Amino acid sequence: MHPQLQELHQDHVNLAKVLRLLEKQLADLQSGEHIDLEVLSEIVDYVQTYPDRVHHKREDIIFSVYLERSSTSRDLVERLMEEHTLLLDKTRNLYVHIEQWRQDSPVPRGRMVSIIADYLLMQWDHLNLEESSVLELLHQELTPADWARIEATMPLSNDPLFGDKVLQRFENILGQLSGY
Ligand SMILES: [Fe+2]
Ligand SMILES: [Fe+2]
Repeated sequence: MHPQLQELHQDHVNLAKVLRLLEKQLADLQSGEHIDLEVLSEIVDYVQTYPDRVHHKREDIIFSVYLERSSTSRDLVERLMEEHTLLLDKTRNLYVHIEQWRQDSPVPRGRMVSIIADYLLMQWDHLNLEESSVLELLHQELTPADWARIEATMPLSNDPLFGDKVLQRFENILGQLSGY
């Protein structure tokens, strides 16, 4: 598998850990336990910073080259690109609700539960679809010339949580991720 695809896969493995940590927050919220809003905020901040803005941008570059030359499973790839835009909005919406809660205007617990549960469903569906079908499709269809084009425009990126240099604002959740 091309190193670019291996990197996408590793990003998915990393995001899955963060989503499982978010599932834990959701379970605590549902059972009425105390929620650490700092942790919740950091999780969503991370998703906005790297998966939504960098990982999806990298996929969009690869998907665009794919769509220019292949007619196989176009609907699927186009749908995933649309979901990148939708997920950006969904994450932003979740972040706004969490910030509202942090600033002493609590969002009703039931409302938060449904927002986070819907959000997790969409993130998992998207990630699982890419893992189960799209990475293999790209592996089969893209040629060395396609990869050369992709690499010429692919920006360098450092994951601020799982990369070499962890941003200070994610250090709280870094410690919590070891069990996931
Ligand atoms: Fe994606
Ligand atoms: Fe992805």
